[in-house]
Amino acid sequence: MPLPHLSKHMALLKILHYPDPRLHIVAKPVDKVDDHIRKLAADMAETMYAAPGIGLAATQVDHHIQLLLVDVSENKDQLMTFINPQIVEADGETVYEEGCLSVPGIFEEVTRAERIKVRALNLSGESFELEADGLLAICIQHEIDHLKGKVFVEYLSRLKQDRIKQKLAKRAREAM
Ligand code: NI
Repeated sequence: MPLPHLSKHMALLKILHYPDPRLHIVAKPVDKVDDHIRKLAADMAETMYAAPGIGLAATQVDHHIQLLLVDVSENKDQLMTFINPQIVEADGETVYEEGCLSVPGIFEEVTRAERIKVRALNLSGESFELEADGLLAICIQHEIDHLKGKVFVEYLSRLKQDRIKQKLAKRAREAM
């Protein structure tokens, strides 16, 4: 017996891979949080959990609007959605070995603010503020960068970026 009501709500989105130029498009603010945005957010959540990942920005699924999701919890039950996010306070410094669903298999150290305060809209269109530190703060900063068209490897030296591009191109050829 098929399960007709389960599968039709699932929609896994294709994740763009670095150095796809679409990853550098700057996302536009969301005017209105409506069902279209909520459907995209739901599909992004499915895509993020399936990958699996702890964060996903709309940019990575080729939707260039200011929408991102994170869930850094162990049990994958603390999904947070940020629409039109803005970092309104940042302090301290932390170094973490980051990865990215758009740069598969590459992990490199990036320095970011240790603590942030972020202001955003939720899926009901209500404004909220969140203070974050640790992995959550790092993840939010990484995803906000995506909305600005920035991929984490761009914090690395030019030489390292070229090596990563070569590595990914080689892997793509081998996968064909
Ligand atoms: Ni990423």
